[in-house]
Amino acid sequence: MKVLVIGGGGREHALVWAIARSPRVQEVVCAPGNGGIAALARCVQVNQKDLDDLIRVAVTEQPDLTVVGPEVPLSLGLVDELSRRGMRIFGPTQRAAMLETSKVFAKEFMQRHHLPTAHYAVCSSAEELSDALAHFHAPIVVKADGLAAGKGVVICESKQEAEAVAKQMLSGQMLGDAQHHVILEEFLAGDEISWLVFSDGTHVLPLVAAQDHKRIGEGDTGLNTGGMGAYSTDTLLAPEMRDWLVHHIAQPVIDGMAAEGAPFRGVLYCGLMMTARGPMLLEFNTRFGDPETEAILPRLLGGELLKAMEAAVDGNLDQVELRWRSQPAVTVIAASQGYPGSVQTGHAITGLNEAAMREGVTVFHAGTALRDGNVVTAGGRVLAVTAMADTLQSACDRAYEALDRIHFDGMYYRRDIAHRALKKGKEMA
Ligand code: AMP
Ligand code: GLY
Repeated sequence: MKVLVIGGGGREHALVWAIARSPRVQEVVCAPGNGGIAALARCVQVNQKDLDDLIRVAVTEQPDLTVVGPEVPLSLGLVDELSRRGMRIFGPTQRAAMLETSKVFAKEFMQRHHLPTAHYAVCSSAEELSDALAHFHAPIVVKADGLAAGKGVVICESKQEAEAVAKQMLSGQMLGDAQHHVILEEFLAGDEISWLVFSDGTHVLPLVAAQDHKRIGEGDTGLNTGGMGAYSTDTLLAPEMRDWLVHHIAQPVIDGMAAEGAPFRGVLYCGLMMTARGPMLLEFNTRFGDPETEAILPRLLGGELLKAMEAAVDGNLDQVELRWRSQPAVTVIAASQGYPGSVQTGHAITGLNEAAMREGVTVFHAGTALRDGNVVTAGGRVLAVTAMADTLQSACDRAYEALDRIHFDGMYYRRDIAHRALKKGKEMA
């Protein structure tokens, strides 16, 4: 079997790595891939923002299955186009991807289907903003409607700040593109988890949960990023809570999308806040999370990922059971100096082999390239160093010991990944 993976970050390296472990797979092609993916897959050039170019690659390669990593190709309708050509592709259609591409659609969908989520108001003008703000108490969360690569959510400490931020989003001053709508949302306090489920449009198959670390600084301080690390452990989500989430959140979403004529096939990422009022939906993504995927997939036994993806495409996910390792996994992102702002690239990376040889360690590449056969930095997030071990603490130790071997100019990483779980563990002991 030949599989084409679209994307070129740490998530796609983990997807390629897991897919290549299936004995049924003879060849993996990745478009565009990166310096690490090139060791496992043939990498081909593509402009991920150009639908025609994406179609060209798929039509040229004729894979038995295409897997889409990032959201932009989904938002362009790549799944619709390849399905129309009779090709098998894992991911939601353009309409089903609206759960991620339009936060207004997502919130209104949640309300229509009585899903637990924060109170909100949709505003499209300065007048609507001041009327709506009267019904909120600070802190207030302001969200842009469209895709904003992690920059579309601002937590505001006062009504004045919320009004200013919302106006900047509407005018285009904040995100480049002017937003037709912004969302004001009640602030929710609690522990956040990333909970993903596969779906074939009808059935739901949950993955193990993970927790992301969105802020650049230790102790969850500073600017928001694409994610500076993640961990996945069974203690994040008790089996009873998982079953509750399937019955009260995941299955109603899948049933609701089917009833609205936009069945959801692929992987649905539910961003949840575990509040005193119970679990509440913060957002949907219609793809795997990054860096959650780098912590989740190593826990899945070899071959299982492909099995689930094929069942999601073919509509028989009810016949699949996933087999997981009980060992926790920790992923630490090594970023370039300056991230999430602008960064320098092209710095040589050393120690990769030494790090990868350590027990329980896998080094996924997020933003790297090959230059004269050597691996160099090529982005803000550079590496996703993952380790597994019998306990969360030892998995963390292994990840940081592996990072000690790696060097590039300006390398930065957070030293406190999994701090919430480790602290809780100590409190319980
Ligand atoms: P989103 O893009 O909607 O996931 O928002 C990005 C991040 O903002 C989330 O991961 C949360 O940490 C935070 N966030 C979003 N909505 C809320 C909310 N209603 N209350 C508190 N934090 C939120
Ligand atoms: N880690 C959050 C995301 O993938 O959107």
